[in-house]
Amino acid sequence: MDVPGLVERALKELDAAEDGPALEAIRVRYLGKKGELTAILKQLGSLPAEERKAAGQSVNQAKKTLSEAISGRQKLLQQADLDRELAADRVDVTLPGRGVDAGGHHPVSLAMDRILDIFNRLGFATETGPEVEDDYHNFEALNFPPHHPARAMHDTFYLPDGRLLRTHTSPVQIRVMKNRQPPVRIVAPGRVFRSDSDQTHTPQFHQVEGLLVDTDVTFADLKGLLHDFVNAYFEAELEMRLRPSYFPFTEPSAEVDVRWQNADGSAGRWLEVLGCGMVHPAVLENCGVDSEKYTGYAFGLGVERFAMLRYQVDDLRLFFENDLNFLRQFR
Ligand code: FA5
Ligand code: MG
Repeated sequence: MDVPGLVERALKELDAAEDGPALEAIRVRYLGKKGELTAILKQLGSLPAEERKAAGQSVNQAKKTLSEAISGRQKLLQQADLDRELAADRVDVTLPGRGVDAGGHHPVSLAMDRILDIFNRLGFATETGPEVEDDYHNFEALNFPPHHPARAMHDTFYLPDGRLLRTHTSPVQIRVMKNRQPPVRIVAPGRVFRSDSDQTHTPQFHQVEGLLVDTDVTFADLKGLLHDFVNAYFEAELEMRLRPSYFPFTEPSAEVDVRWQNADGSAGRWLEVLGCGMVHPAVLENCGVDSEKYTGYAFGLGVERFAMLRYQVDDLRLFFENDLNFLRQFR
């Protein structure tokens, strides 16, 4: 019954055990039901009474020593596992990140925000109207009689039910004036649609409508406002001209052109940026506004045209191709 020898052997085996299963095997071999130490314990009864006590104490001490040694070794192995795992999973904080591209506003949004900001500061409140309109608001109330040739200028997209995609933001004039008596001082931004496509035309584009109705409004007021607006928008004295034009809903009517500036600063060709005029009395009457008492002016500007001129983009279609290399330049 060499208990110290047994303990020494078990401790050596423990030192060599490299994982959980090996440890468990050792535990079973010495401390298990059929283990070596357990077997010695069972033989104690056959010892002479005077030896029994000392032998019992030495076996119990051996059991305690082995149990403690096993759990000590277990902790050591677990810690080693953890260290290995941590080493393998280590995050290298010095690696460059994957990089998330910061987005930016689209140049048309930038132009739109800029335009609205200027008019809002001039006292024009922002109003909106629907993109799917009816013939009445898009044409008839704006003094386009049925079969009027001016309708043909608009290349309208029709819906099967007879409604249409608005061809301009002018129907918002009608919606606002039908709801409210003068003074009216609003701008109406939005998308408009025409079956039209080339370097300066796209089938979908943006306009900002302006409408001011009050007593004693004159064409000179309109011209002054547009002049101030163009200077504020471009932050430069770009050349601008008013050209007589025709719209059924304004009389007199004009279109405004702004001259491109070439890279060397010299003057380039003219680009039409907006249509405008004095609100036709028939339009005021259609909306229940007394045309004897009130006069007004209106304008509708092409947002993409203002973006082209400000950012020196000579083809309108670039704005809608979503080429990231193009868009990144506006970040
Ligand atoms: C109109 O749409 C009138 N409703 C403007 C108006 C409002 C006149 C109020 C009088 C009073 P016009 O079709 O000319 O007019 O368009 C106005 C502006 O929109 C043009 O000057 C141009 O800047 C822009 N525009 C017109 N068609 C296109 C297009 N296909 N693509 C991009 N911009 C366009
Ligand atoms: Mg025009």
